[in-house]
Amino acid sequence: MAVVLEQIVSEGLAQLSYLVGDDKAGLVAVIDPRRDVAIYLKKAQILGARIIAIIETHIHADFVSGAHELAVRTGAPIYTGENDAYTFAHHPVQEGEKIELGTITLQALPTPGHTPEHISWLLFDQKQGDRPIAVFSGDTLFNLDAGRPDLLGSDETKQLAIALHQSLYEKLLPLGDRVELYPGHGAGSACGKSIGDRRQSTLGNEHMFSPVFSHPVQADFLHWLLDAMPEPPRHYADLKKLNAAGAPIKGGLPLIPPLSPEEFRQQMSQEGVLVLDARSILAFGGGHIPGALNIALQNEFPTWVGWMVERTTPILLVVESERDLMLVSQHLFRTGYDMILGYLHQGMTSWQNAALPLQSIKEWTVHTLHQQIENPTLTILDVRSEQERQKGYVPHSQHRFVAHLRDNLAGLEPFQPVATYCGTGFRASIAASILQQNGFTNVINVPGFWTAWQVANLPIEKTDNESTDNK
Ligand SMILES: [Fe+2]
Repeated sequence: MAVVLEQIVSEGLAQLSYLVGDDKAGLVAVIDPRRDVAIYLKKAQILGARIIAIIETHIHADFVSGAHELAVRTGAPIYTGENDAYTFAHHPVQEGEKIELGTITLQALPTPGHTPEHISWLLFDQKQGDRPIAVFSGDTLFNLDAGRPDLLGSDETKQLAIALHQSLYEKLLPLGDRVELYPGHGAGSACGKSIGDRRQSTLGNEHMFSPVFSHPVQADFLHWLLDAMPEPPRHYADLKKLNAAGAPIKGGLPLIPPLSPEEFRQQMSQEGVLVLDARSILAFGGGHIPGALNIALQNEFPTWVGWMVERTTPILLVVESERDLMLVSQHLFRTGYDMILGYLHQGMTSWQNAALPLQSIKEWTVHTLHQQIENPTLTILDVRSEQERQKGYVPHSQHRFVAHLRDNLAGLEPFQPVATYCGTGFRASIAASILQQNGFTNVINVPGFWTAWQVANLPIEKTDNESTDNK
């Protein structure tokens, strides 16, 4: 063996980091490390290699970077692009600058667009001549998508979009079709609009199949890129600041203490404490702690915690199992939630056995909702995004995007029934729990919603008020 190239996947965030180098020479670099850095240290140790370089392709917005933590643990320098926002010790690179890792060389290729300081890195292998064999493209180019240029605010979006077009067409594409592509994210990340399933690709594959490369004219590209771009998750701006400053050093994942129902109740009574219930929407609907917020543990969990919970909020957890506790604690750590007070020991079983109060949410099928559609006392609340709403909605429904619901309750009647719906029931359950937190007494969720509504061929209305028979 000589060449080391390992991709490390962080599920949920769909974040991809890399260990790359030469194990014969015993030298490796880590590209875009996540916050729990033990995995890189362990892998390097198994290879008998030393981590001598830490690379940040750009200032990340969707997760807490482990670069700072890894630098403290290894003493390796952090290589970045040029940006005055960085306030920790780092090494800003110039175009063409190299990091030598035995027979492997990484070479900096600035590719601004997703962010101004973005650097992609070319990979050269001495045994394969003087042309790059691969590119680590960070958030410039993904499978079937490019990095969104709108995360620094509307003033800079157009300029960054133009820079992105140049980076893609003038820097990456000329590298040649055979160059392998190792991006910073896979499908499910909100750093792109619609990232494809493949976690690695080639420039040739993207050249042939990606919409990114079917818009060579700049104006067309900008139109395609910025059209129907969803709103960036609320926590992105905050995480960018945290990553520019360097996240606090923690030494690893925290141990979250188990709490008895009585201890849990005491902690709950403190000012500002949030009960975060990560169980499934059906379990939450069946019975939960009054005032709890339901964000079910599935792939979207970290993004929706980011949308709905301030990073400094003290959190008490309710989970289904020890395994779920581990996954939830990883997600929260990786997105910068460091105020986890504890979890309910033995879950809701211990709570119900202690004769403590329960709240529930009614669950309706789409058929029940359809029968109630003309009920004048029922409010039907569509909590999906604007873009989803535009494609069609339930007749007589109101639209309030779940991310803004807490500040957008005016006009809703707390003592009348409110049925929430989204794509699957996941965001509708978040919305239902927010309504209950705000004193709504008759809240209904419709699990499986949009999929089930279409399967059942129920009526859909379009923005231009044109009713359809769900064609
Ligand atoms: Fe990013």
